[in-house]
Amino acid sequence: VAEKRTSRQPEILLEIGPGRGPLHVQIERALRDALRDGRIASGAAVPSTRVMARQLGVSRGVLVEAYEQLIAEGYLVTRPGSRTRVADGVRPLPRQAPVAAFPSVRFDFRPGLPDVTHFPRDAWSRASRRVLRELAAAQLSYGDARGAFELRAALVEYLGRARGVLGVPEAVVICTGFAQALGVIARALYRRGVRRFAVEDPGHPDQRRILAGAGLAVVGVPVDDQGLRVDRLERVAAQAVLVTPAHQFPSGIVLSAERRRDLLAWAASHAAIVVEDDYDAEYRYDRKPVGALQGLAPERVVYAGSASKLLAPALRLGWLVVPPAWAEVTAQIKKDADLGSSTLEQLVYADFLQTGELDRHLRRMRTIYRSRRDALLRALTRHCPRWTPSGVAAGLHLVAGLPAGRDDAELARAALGRSVRVYPISDYRFKTRGPAGLVLGYAGLTEREISEAVARLAGIGG
Ligand SMILES: Cc1ncc(COP(=O)(O)O)c(C=O)c1O
Repeated sequence: VAEKRTSRQPEILLEIGPGRGPLHVQIERALRDALRDGRIASGAAVPSTRVMARQLGVSRGVLVEAYEQLIAEGYLVTRPGSRTRVADGVRPLPRQAPVAAFPSVRFDFRPGLPDVTHFPRDAWSRASRRVLRELAAAQLSYGDARGAFELRAALVEYLGRARGVLGVPEAVVICTGFAQALGVIARALYRRGVRRFAVEDPGHPDQRRILAGAGLAVVGVPVDDQGLRVDRLERVAAQAVLVTPAHQFPSGIVLSAERRRDLLAWAASHAAIVVEDDYDAEYRYDRKPVGALQGLAPERVVYAGSASKLLAPALRLGWLVVPPAWAEVTAQIKKDADLGSSTLEQLVYADFLQTGELDRHLRRMRTIYRSRRDALLRALTRHCPRWTPSGVAAGLHLVAGLPAGRDDAELARAALGRSVRVYPISDYRFKTRGPAGLVLGYAGLTEREISEAVARLAGIGG
């Protein structure tokens, strides 16, 4: 048990003890904290080094060293013949108002999250150790802002195999998640003269904000049962469009073969760029794989992907495969943003791809998510038979359409009263109206939890 030596000065309580580093550093840190959180007021005298040393049971030299450091940093001031005082400018940090957190609920159908409790910790830690062992010292310096070559090359191989993406490592830019990737490509497009950017409606409001933040005018294009209404792109005079062809977010609709052709024809005839967000395409259950659009028109489509659904959002890893003509401007914007993402995470992810760990993890997770999806469909049929699920063949969420006249936002509020959080599709709509529905992410709940949560929903009008 660490012995605590505590000063009994009314205004200062310093805790120091063995095993926490050199004594003078502990005292400096404790005093700095006391000054910052206002326990010792600006201008107040601090106890002499002799008094403090006696109270703390340490030698006076230790106190002298700590005080000198704090004087050098400007926290304390000393004048010949007078007591050492807290410098005038030292103010306590303003207390942060607590962040308005979501009230916690028992069951949360938040879409877009994998089950992070299944994160392959052992495999990740083995890969991390391997990477650290083999890392050349130069790789700990600034690297290519596009990202580690190993990862760019491994992604080209993996995406070519798994998603039909055509790319070269030189035209891959690694970002901190799709969120940054979208901002980077938006700025690149702006720099090349793009001003009007179309998005799917419904779609993710964060993405509309990111695009607007890059200076683009964001216009919505409705989605119907075949996906994006490509015929509307001309009407809104879009020069680029963001799409989720494999599993539209949030409706879950797959862009039909005809619309895929129409979209690429529109892009070719308008010299426009299509940004393809392939966010959860690896999860598909009972439909044939649909390859990435990018493979059909690599000179017009920017492919974007993310590790957030495959492994965990905390990795903050995403990537762009851009047409070669866009590689330089995109890389420059990423470089201006942050000089590049963390090399270590990138190398571990590259190792995961090369050793087949990612494939193994995905195979395991697909089975789990399929069972959860099936459990959700069963529970809906049983408890909420008037709701119509759609977008169920892939991904980590589905949409439960509500009977006419039901208000999805109202239902979501009522569900909170039963400790269930569901996500009204109306929250994702931009300009167009559409049928009411609930976006239900099932990946993070066990089958038993899904069943209980849906039973609770039945009680409020399933
Ligand atoms: C539609 C869509 N695309 C992409 C992402 C991934 O974003 P990121 O890679 O920044 O975590 C998300 C995350 O929720 C999403 O909902």
